[in-house]
Amino acid sequence: MAEERLQKILARAGIASRRKAEDLIREGRVTVNGLVVTEMGSKADPGRDSIKVDGKRLRLQPFVYLLLNKPKGYVSTLSDPEGRPTVVDLLGGVKARVYPVGRLDFDAEGLLLLTNDGDLAHRLMHPRYEVPKTYRVKVQGVMEEKALAKLRKGVVLEEGRTAPARVLPIRKTETNSWIELTIREGWNRQVKRMCERAGHSVLKLQRVRYGSLGLGDLPRGRYRALSPREISLLRQAAIPAGREGRGR
Ligand code: URA
Repeated sequence: MAEERLQKILARAGIASRRKAEDLIREGRVTVNGLVVTEMGSKADPGRDSIKVDGKRLRLQPFVYLLLNKPKGYVSTLSDPEGRPTVVDLLGGVKARVYPVGRLDFDAEGLLLLTNDGDLAHRLMHPRYEVPKTYRVKVQGVMEEKALAKLRKGVVLEEGRTAPARVLPIRKTETNSWIELTIREGWNRQVKRMCERAGHSVLKLQRVRYGSLGLGDLPRGRYRALSPREISLLRQAAIPAGREGRGR
């Protein structure tokens, strides 16, 4: 195995995201062959060097990429201070410590990607790559063209104006409307806040696409491993411009 940057190795070992790995290095908790390394960008060879975090030797795990159809009533974090069920409870049989890529609210459902590839997860969530996320949304009331246009154009939230969104009306009754909404940011509760700004509260929220990945007919509460092609497409979505085709 060749030398790689230490924070990348730590992320790949499933210890933490790349950013968190950098903190571990900065805090002096990482040693290479017995020496504390605090310099960012230091390299090591995970096949040859003894890399330890808090004195514990690193074991490189193979990468695992899972797509889960999260039901309502689960938090998309690894643990919950309130003791609510977490998505980890749905991953029976998965030994690797995988992390959710982005969040889905407790009362939201649908596509959640989980992986121990901290590096890819970090890049997929980075605003710079603008990975599109598509939601099916049921809202209160009849959504008129004016509200749809507002969402398309962008609405002002605390973080700023949302980028133009793709909005498709799906159906409506006298009391509710269903739309499909594609956004590129990943702000907290963004879809709910956008719809509220457009005058409609969200009753149901389901994520159906994340970048190149679709939910398909995966039953609620079930997960599956991504295919090599799906993984490769995801990687392509998170390559800095000008570096395409150079591999990882
Ligand atoms: N937008 C929301 O409001 N909630 C989610 O869970 C995801 C996007």
